Amino acid sequence: MMRRPDWLPFDPGGEFRLGPRVLPGRVWTASGCFGYGLTGRDIKASDGGSPFDGLGAVVTKTITTSPRQGNPPPRIWDAGSGALNSIGLENVGLDRFVDEIIPALRQDRVPFVASIAGTRPGEFGDMTRRLVAAAADCEHWHGVELNLSCPNVAHGGVDFGRRPETVRDCVEAAVAEVTDRIVLAKLTPNVASIAELATAAADGGAHGVTAINTLLGMDIDLATGQPVLPLRRGGYSGPAILPVALAKVDEIVRESGLPVVGVGGIGSAEDALKFFAVGAVAVQVGTSQMNDPFSAAGIAGVFNGS
Ligand SMILES: Cc1cc2nc3c(=O)[nH]c(=O)nc-3n(C[C@H](O)[C@H](O)[C@H](O)COP(=O)(O)O)c2cc1C
Repeated sequence: MMRRPDWLPFDPGGEFRLGPRVLPGRVWTASGCFGYGLTGRDIKASDGGSPFDGLGAVVTKTITTSPRQGNPPPRIWDAGSGALNSIGLENVGLDRFVDEIIPALRQDRVPFVASIAGTRPGEFGDMTRRLVAAAADCEHWHGVELNLSCPNVAHGGVDFGRRPETVRDCVEAAVAEVTDRIVLAKLTPNVASIAELATAAADGGAHGVTAINTLLGMDIDLATGQPVLPLRRGGYSGPAILPVALAKVDEIVRESGLPVVGVGGIGSAEDALKFFAVGAVAVQVGTSQMNDPFSAAGIAGVFNGS
């Protein structure tokens, strides 16, 4: 177990309150990087440990109202110190999420936050209402994360979440549907001022923001001179983006005062501590979780001594 640094005002291994909920831990998995929180159910470490041990929440893969096929391959590209992805929001859609995924998460007692995306503010409200109807009695469902920032979708993508008024309106629509669940706005870093977006989320009544989603990135195949991804550009993630993510979280904490769930390049307890140092209340593990499904649980284990 890691000794808690003197400067840290809380126990990183304990439960904590965020808005109306008490979550079991401050280390979560990031949306899109651990499926719907079910893929890890059959994985066991040699010591019997599970990828869910100590997790505060699994943020499930973003769902949209209708199922999506996603983008043509290749969808993930190893760009050296980071990963480029162009998934295009492939997902099962809201009906299957409600009918199949939520009951399984309930049965497995997985703490989760449901990530949702829409193309207009009212859709975020409609989707949240459906989730409340399906999961209001599920004690492990902690809330929604509004994906206002996916750079891989032609419509409703990054341009959508770049406007502060849109962020505010989407948050407001979701907040109107919930009483005892968290509403988080997940922000794009691909703007001049992410703090402006966070302030707009606060105006809409968000309990916090998640920062950051992937950075817009690109790579070239020198054999062809063409981009490696089918839509030319994609989302850049992994170790290389940690300093950028830290700076964005720092900006939001200092300028908006809203609780921030920090994400970007985290692969160790030391990485997570850096986000806590700038004021994040919790962290999410993304790309590292795809390389090693025990990554987030391992970080949580360092903090809670298991
Ligand atoms: C393959 C892949 C799929 C992702 N899918 C989603 C998604 O569906 N919704 C979302 O909000 N973020 C998605 N993300 C972004 C991550 O949740 C996270 O914000 C980003 O990757 C930065 O964290 P990391 O460096 O730890 O990966 C995805 C990232 C990757 C690499």
